[in-house]
Amino acid sequence: MYKAAILGATGVVGQEFILALQNHPWFSITRLAASERSAGKLYHEALQDKNGSTRWYCAGAPNKNIQNMLVEDASKMDMSNIDVVFTAVESEEAKHLEPRFAAHKPVITTASAFRYEEDVPIMIPGINSAHSALIKKQRDRGWKGFIVPGPNCTTVGLAASLKPIQDSFGLNQVIMTSMQAVSGAGRDGGVLALDITDNVIPYIPREEEKVQRETKKILGTLTDGHITPLDLAISCICTRVNVRDAHLEMVFVSTKKPCTPDEVKRAMIEYGRRISDQGWPSAPKELIVVLDDPFRPQPRVDRDTYDGMAVVVGRIEQATALENGIKYVVLSHNLKLGAAKGAVLIGEQLVKEGYIKES
Ligand SMILES: NC(=O)c1ccc[n+]([C@@H]2O[C@H](COP(=O)([O-])OP(=O)(O)OC[C@H]3O[C@@H](n4cnc5c(N)ncnc54)[C@H](OP(=O)(O)O)[C@@H]3O)[C@@H](O)[C@H]2O)c1
Repeated sequence: MYKAAILGATGVVGQEFILALQNHPWFSITRLAASERSAGKLYHEALQDKNGSTRWYCAGAPNKNIQNMLVEDASKMDMSNIDVVFTAVESEEAKHLEPRFAAHKPVITTASAFRYEEDVPIMIPGINSAHSALIKKQRDRGWKGFIVPGPNCTTVGLAASLKPIQDSFGLNQVIMTSMQAVSGAGRDGGVLALDITDNVIPYIPREEEKVQRETKKILGTLTDGHITPLDLAISCICTRVNVRDAHLEMVFVSTKKPCTPDEVKRAMIEYGRRISDQGWPSAPKELIVVLDDPFRPQPRVDRDTYDGMAVVVGRIEQATALENGIKYVVLSHNLKLGAAKGAVLIGEQLVKEGYIKES
């Protein structure tokens, strides 16, 4: 078993990491860490707020062992009993914490702090698996370990659904509007019930830039230790809606070669099935599921498809306003494929490739 530490273990994504790892066949949770506020408490104590109410947000519960583990101060932890670090802290904290760990250990992160650095890939296993080769470049920093982030939770559904279209027909333009769940804002940055109930918030700071930039990097080409982002015109509007989990995205695409909705559907289905050949325990049977019912996908009904690890697509139709236009709706779980379990899937790819080793 590979010994895993979780930083930010008490937050929304940290809790999903616990669920993704506590019965994992390859990883065992050996260390938990969060802020000074939680340090020195047992995990179940650290989850309580000042009124004694337990702040556990996920479906499923931490097992007894985990509940009684000590939570450490992430900024003061030593590196013992760790083969890999999974991190779920805000970007500001990640900027300082992650390099300290990466100097010694592999770090897989849900934070954005290092996503845009030249020697850092943004990984979606099965979509841009080959980008892991960029990890070797990080040795130039003098690190024994490395940092590999997953994408922003809104990028993942878009980039994964675009990849088969790019491979089969080429991409010219992408226009996307998202309707994002409240859990996407996390516990600390959380959306107030008073703001979101009976409402839609038409702006999420910095989200659109992240999605646009990350999609081009993920769909880009790695050559000679450098990722050339895909040359793609892409514009997004990201909104917050009164949904608990999963982001729904409305996508318009102009392709290079003409294609029909049926051809796009076939390309997505065929591409999505390849992931099951990899032997990664957290991989869904199909990474992309295409539904014919025009009333789907819906967050409440479809977010748990393959335990939240599938990208669910519907309404693939011609978009007549665009040259070679196709439109569709895509749904992905922001906390599972879009965060913790997606990061664990990265860990599984990196174990198979020998980047994560037992100490
Ligand atoms: N929510 C999503 O859907 C989602 C999806 C993809 C990526 N992400 C990214 O994942 C990361 C975590 O997001 P989240 O939604 O889980 O946030 P969150 O619910 O607000 O949790 C924040 C976590 O960070 C810990 N923390 C705060 N300050 C710290 C410090 N100085 N040192 C160490 N730990 C510290 C908190 O510990 P205490 O309990 O001790 O305060 C808590 O465990 C963020 O970078 C976010 O952008 C989130």
